[in-house]
Amino acid sequence: MAAIDTRALRNILGCYATGVAIITTRAANGQHVAVTVNSFSSVSLDPPLVLFSLARKANVLETFMQADRFAVNILAHEQQALSNMFAKPSTAIFAEGSYSVGLGGCALFGNSLAHLECTKASEADGGDHVIFLGHVTHFHRCAATQPLVFYSGSYGTYSRDQWSKLPPSDGSLSEFSVTGWG
Ligand SMILES: Cc1cc2nc3c(=O)[nH]c(=O)nc-3n(C[C@H](O)[C@H](O)[C@H](O)COP(=O)(O)O)c2cc1C
Repeated sequence: MAAIDTRALRNILGCYATGVAIITTRAANGQHVAVTVNSFSSVSLDPPLVLFSLARKANVLETFMQADRFAVNILAHEQQALSNMFAKPSTAIFAEGSYSVGLGGCALFGNSLAHLECTKASEADGGDHVIFLGHVTHFHRCAATQPLVFYSGSYGTYSRDQWSKLPPSDGSLSEFSVTGWG
């Protein structure tokens, strides 16, 4: 098989627009740990499962592997600075008052779009990443309304198309209820 150009592949994968999340957990000594990801994804409603993947070279990997809980902060557009803070290698200081502590003990940042608290369900090999599957135990919607979007290596905003609530005119999704999806 021909060698894959990883830089080119990364650019292609960047065509898939995502939101941005900060995943938090606690180290064995109680210290709060956080990392910015766009690999967060919903997996299952019943049972309620979500996932994210973390680079094997990430400094926080060991802490996430040892922890049995994590929380997901789905970021609002106003939280770019917070996103950047936790995208730097382990330098982020948790400023007192900038977060609350959830029922599972992990940090929840105010002004997010939503929070999900999880118990770790499993870890799986994801090549140069480790995939963390979480069982959602608590979740709530926060006051923010505009998601932070990540596309092609840059942050952006989301705007709803005025026709997005109409059924597709070519019937291509006719067996797939878009209005019932999300
Ligand atoms: C928008 C965005 C999305 C990211 N998504 C991921 C991701 O899904 N998985 C990952 O391992 N790193 C991701 N990163 C990079 C980490 O946030 C970054 O490597 C961080 O420095 C890791 O911290 P650590 O090395 O202290 O563990 C992302 C960064 C940004 C800005």
